[in-house]
Amino acid sequence: MGKKLFIKTHGCQMNEYDSNRVGDLLGESHGFEITPNPEEADLILLNTCSIREKAQEKVFHQLGRWRKLKDKNPDLKIGVGGCVASQEGKNIISRAPFVDIVFGPQTIHRVPDLYQSSLVNCNPGIDIEFPKTEKFDYLPSPSSKGPSAFVSIMEGCNKYCTYCVVPHTRGHEISRAKEDILEEVRSLTDKGVREINFLGQNVNAYRDGKDRTKGVGLANLIRESADIKGLERIRFTTSHPFEFGQELVDVYGEVPELVSHLHLPVQSGSNSILKMMRRRHTREEYIDLITRIKDKRPGISLSSDFIVGFPGETEKDFILTLDLVDEIGFDESYSFMYSPRPNTTALEFEDDVSLEKKKERLSTLQSKLKNNANIISRRMVGTAEICLVTGVSKKDPGQLQARTENNRVVNFNTSSQSLIGEFINLEIVEALPNSLRGVIS
Ligand code: 5AD
Ligand code: SF4
Repeated sequence: MGKKLFIKTHGCQMNEYDSNRVGDLLGESHGFEITPNPEEADLILLNTCSIREKAQEKVFHQLGRWRKLKDKNPDLKIGVGGCVASQEGKNIISRAPFVDIVFGPQTIHRVPDLYQSSLVNCNPGIDIEFPKTEKFDYLPSPSSKGPSAFVSIMEGCNKYCTYCVVPHTRGHEISRAKEDILEEVRSLTDKGVREINFLGQNVNAYRDGKDRTKGVGLANLIRESADIKGLERIRFTTSHPFEFGQELVDVYGEVPELVSHLHLPVQSGSNSILKMMRRRHTREEYIDLITRIKDKRPGISLSSDFIVGFPGETEKDFILTLDLVDEIGFDESYSFMYSPRPNTTALEFEDDVSLEKKKERLSTLQSKLKNNANIISRRMVGTAEICLVTGVSKKDPGQLQARTENNRVVNFNTSSQSLIGEFINLEIVEALPNSLRGVIS
C-alpha cells in the first residue's frame, strides 16, 4: 500500500500551488498519495501564511493537535513550510520539537530529500534558504484537476510596501523562463485544461530573459499563451498598479482570451496613506490606469484588496477609500484590518487606529463592497454568459457548476456530466448572495 500524505494549506493561491506541487513531487519520489484524513497519514505537511496576524499562533495550535497523532504513531513525520517557516526557521523546532521538516517557499523542491533524511536521521531537517537555482527547475510537470489550473510564473516581491511581510518571507522577484511556462501551459491544455491563471506575488513584474530579471514581460507571455491550442481563458493574479505598463493595458484590446476581470489591489483611496504604505502611485494614477484599461475593455469587472486602519488613517482618509470604491465600481473584493508584521517598515509607525475603529471601518467597507457585488450580480440576471463548467455543484449533486468571466459561480440543472470542462452559454435567471442560477441557453 502506498504512503499517505495529508497537506493543510493556509493563505494565498501561491501556497495552494506550492502544496499541489509538493504533492506531485512526493508522489513521484516516494509514491505518496494524498489523503483527506490526517489520522491515516504517514506524512503531514502544513503550508503556512504570515501575511496577517495570529499566523504563528495558528501554526503552533495546529501542530499541537497533530502531536497527539504522533504520540499514537511514532513513524508519522510532520513538516512545516511556507512563510511562517521562512520567518521562524529554527524557532519552529524550539517550540515544536516533534516537527521533522522545516522548508521555505523557495525550497519546496527539496522536500523529498528532507523527508528521506528524516527517515534515517533523528535531527530535524531545516531548509529555508532562498537558493539561486530556482525551485521551478526541479518540479515535475503538474498534474491537473479540472479544466482550470494555476501556473506560477514568478515568485517574490521587491516592492517593500511598508506593511508587507512578503519580500521578507518569499524573497525578491524571480521569474521563470518563458519557454518553461509555455511548456507547462501546453502540458496542461493537453490534459484538458481550458483556463490558466498565471500566479505570482507581483505578476506584472514578470520578465523572461537569460538572467530572468530583464526581457520579455507579462504582455508578451499572455499573447504567446493565447496562441496555444485549447487555451481559451487567461487570468493573472496578483498585479501591482505601479508596474502596469501601457503594453499590458493594450493586451486587453488585442487578446480576447484575456478575461474581462482584473484584480488590481489599491489598498487605500487616500494619497497620504498610499505614500505611507510606499505603494508608489497616487489615487489619480490608479484611476487613470483603470480608465485606460476600460477604454480597451469596456465593462471589465474590477476587484481589489484594501487595508483599513493603517497607522495614521483618519476618518477623512477612510472616506476617500469609500469614495474610490464608488468611483471605480469595484466588484467582490478583499479587505483587511491592518496588522503589524515582523521586519516591516510600518512597525516604526504608531499603530494608532483603535481596534474598535478598525473593526467599524472594515465592516463599513465590506458592506459597501458586498452591496456593489450584489448590484452587479442582479444586473447579470437576464444576460447570457459564457461560462466554463468546472464540476458538480457543491450544494446539489444533480447540478453542475460553472464560472463566469468575472469569476462568479453559476449552478445549473443538466443531466449531461460531459459538459464538465466545456464552455457553454448560460442565461442567468437568479442572483443569490454567493452564487448565480443559470439555464442552458
Ligand atoms: N495587514 C493587513 N493586511 C495586509 N495585507 C498584506 N499585509 C497586510 C498587513 N500587514 C493584505 C493586502 C494585500 C493582501 C494579500 O493582504 O491587502 O494585498
Ligand atoms: Fe506585499 Fe506590496 Fe509586494 Fe504586494 S507589492 S507582495 S503588498 S510588498
